[in-house]
Amino acid sequence: MKPTTPDSGRESRYMIRAFIFDLDGVLTDTAEYHYQAWKRIAEEYGLFFDRNANEQLKGVSRRRSLDLILEINQAGQRFNEQEKEQMVREKNRIYRNLLKNITDRDILPGIQGFLKEARERGLLLAVASASRNADSVLNRLGIKPVFDYIADAGQIARTKPDPEVFLDCCRNLGVLPHSCIGFEDSQAGIEAIRAAGMRSVGIRVKVTTLAPDLPYQGTEELDVQQVLDYFE
Ligand code: BG6
Ligand code: MG
Repeated sequence: MKPTTPDSGRESRYMIRAFIFDLDGVLTDTAEYHYQAWKRIAEEYGLFFDRNANEQLKGVSRRRSLDLILEINQAGQRFNEQEKEQMVREKNRIYRNLLKNITDRDILPGIQGFLKEARERGLLLAVASASRNADSVLNRLGIKPVFDYIADAGQIARTKPDPEVFLDCCRNLGVLPHSCIGFEDSQAGIEAIRAAGMRSVGIRVKVTTLAPDLPYQGTEELDVQQVLDYFE
């Protein structure tokens, strides 16, 4: 699996210092709740929206998600700014209602063990989510203390595929991007990781432009040793 390069005889080309995780769809299945909430908004406003279209929304901010739905429907001009703000607020209200039921049982399979082992091996851990609800989701899941740094989406100006949120994590962890691995379920996220100068692990990514460096079909397949062997 490990790529052969002229350097491969050397001890290691990179020392991996940190794992940086997306939240929705990687640590927990809230990606499904985002979909359900947007689906309700689309139905209410007579807009087309399906799971395929939803792939484009994964990883991008709340407001950019609405703009993408409107673009798909060529309906950007149909609503004024006030109505758009209202739609975004409504979507978040529906989404937060769905969040009320989540507990540590909603952590995706294999994630807890993976985080524990990564910590025991001395890796730094961070969360790079576009979600302004990340803090409350992590609290509900009960895994906040595991992370050395959690990016605040409210402080990030540019949404994925821009690398800003990943670079913010690297800076705050005090590590260089090339020694960090990013974990993502979205195409926008994989692009953001690449643009940050990091390498990527994909979780069931529907690839349209850029494939993850190391793809997995589900979180239950994640293995710390395998990830380190692949990248180091
Ligand atoms: C990302 C999700 O993690 O967060 C997107 O993949 C979502 O679907 C984005 O739009 C913003 O989330 P929130 O909770 O701030 O609306
Ligand atoms: Mg995601």
